[in-house]
Amino acid sequence: MTHHRSTWRNRWTFMLATAGSAIGLGNIWKLPYMIGVNGGSAFVLVFIACILVVGIPLMMTEILLGRRAQKNPFNGIEALAIEAKASPHWKLLGGMGMLTGLLILSFYSVIGGWVLYFITEATKGSFVGIEATQSTANFNNLLASPLTLLFWHTVFMCLTMGVVARGVNSGLEKANNILIPALFVILLILLGYSMSVGDMQAAYHFMFSLDFSKITPVAVLSALGHAFFSLSLGMGSVMVYGSYLQRHVSIARTTIYIALADTMLGLLVGLAIYALVFANNLAPNAGPGLIFQTLPIAFGHMPWGSLIATLFFMLVAFAAWTSAISLVEPTIAWIVENTTISRKVSATTLGFAVWLLGIAVVLSFNDWQHVKIIFGLNIFETLDKLTSTILLPLGGLLMAIFAGYFMKRDHVQDELNLDNRGFKLWRITNNYISPIAIIAVFLYLFGLVK
Ligand code: TRP
Repeated sequence: MTHHRSTWRNRWTFMLATAGSAIGLGNIWKLPYMIGVNGGSAFVLVFIACILVVGIPLMMTEILLGRRAQKNPFNGIEALAIEAKASPHWKLLGGMGMLTGLLILSFYSVIGGWVLYFITEATKGSFVGIEATQSTANFNNLLASPLTLLFWHTVFMCLTMGVVARGVNSGLEKANNILIPALFVILLILLGYSMSVGDMQAAYHFMFSLDFSKITPVAVLSALGHAFFSLSLGMGSVMVYGSYLQRHVSIARTTIYIALADTMLGLLVGLAIYALVFANNLAPNAGPGLIFQTLPIAFGHMPWGSLIATLFFMLVAFAAWTSAISLVEPTIAWIVENTTISRKVSATTLGFAVWLLGIAVVLSFNDWQHVKIIFGLNIFETLDKLTSTILLPLGGLLMAIFAGYFMKRDHVQDELNLDNRGFKLWRITNNYISPIAIIAVFLYLFGLVK
């Protein structure tokens, strides 16, 4: 069966879409609390190193796989394996990626729901004059109410599937063209405020002081996992977006812009948040609730606070939305390219399945709080750790090995189209440095090295 495949209108649109996938709750919700939980600057340092050494080369690899294959990750990797005379079973790597994306979406949508709820709270002026105890109590009340969580999880899921159902050209492009630039503008406003009233010096010290003694194995593991999460790597999001990319666009340059934008944005949000955290004597290691507990206090005391809070949470919701879309796109592309099922029907069915799993996540914050799956982790924590620290790095490792050791060198070079030095640099990082780094982390994880 041959299908007409749509492509992005131009390179800018691809950049916006991929940046839209990368920039999301990972930057705004997860990175800040992970920095706090993992000891501040030690984590930041390793995170930046992981982005440079593992993230950037691997993003290039994922785009090149997608563009060469011109297909969804499952059939795409299969086609590339056949072209390379390797086992067609490599397609299972695509399948694993699709599953990983759906697992991530199940909790991503619940957190996206928290954000939507906070937009409504902000518009109601609920934060005005609020103090720390009240803000924490508000957040805990939200977590204690399964029905509220379920309602907003449902809304978030419908928003996501609504765009996905419309398809790459009409849906994704339009959404991204408006949302990403808007997001940058709103962030600058927040940062400006934070600089004027927050404790920027303390935030800077917390995030960037060079203190190697604080680097722990757990921080390294979390930082590697988060580099994958933040850049949307290891499951096929970037691969499927790359498959819609025209031939003449430079993969290396596009990758570097996206990785820089994503990392900078995450760190700037971190600075803005920690400047507020320290100025208000809040705890940096509050965990997943960090931004939801601390920001309302700051918003509650600033002029125009309710308006700024509304804008901020809208920004986060937009960012989460464009990321969530990319978590399902590989699976949707796979269904649409292999069956006669329409985009609309597949989006609805898949959305429903992920929504069901999301209910378990909702309950893990209240009624099922004490249900532990493995290593004393509840359902949310299990899904988060399983995907970020195992499935994504494993997917990335296999993609790097496939592109580096199985595909023909000429074919890879054909897509990357780099000069000699650039190609060598990509090869060394893709074939040796990042696989070794990932394997080393895995060996540690399974207790094989100490
Ligand atoms: N990168 C997004 C964020 O930071 C989340 C995301 C979208 C993602 N697509 C992905 C994470 C693919 C891992 C893999 O919020």
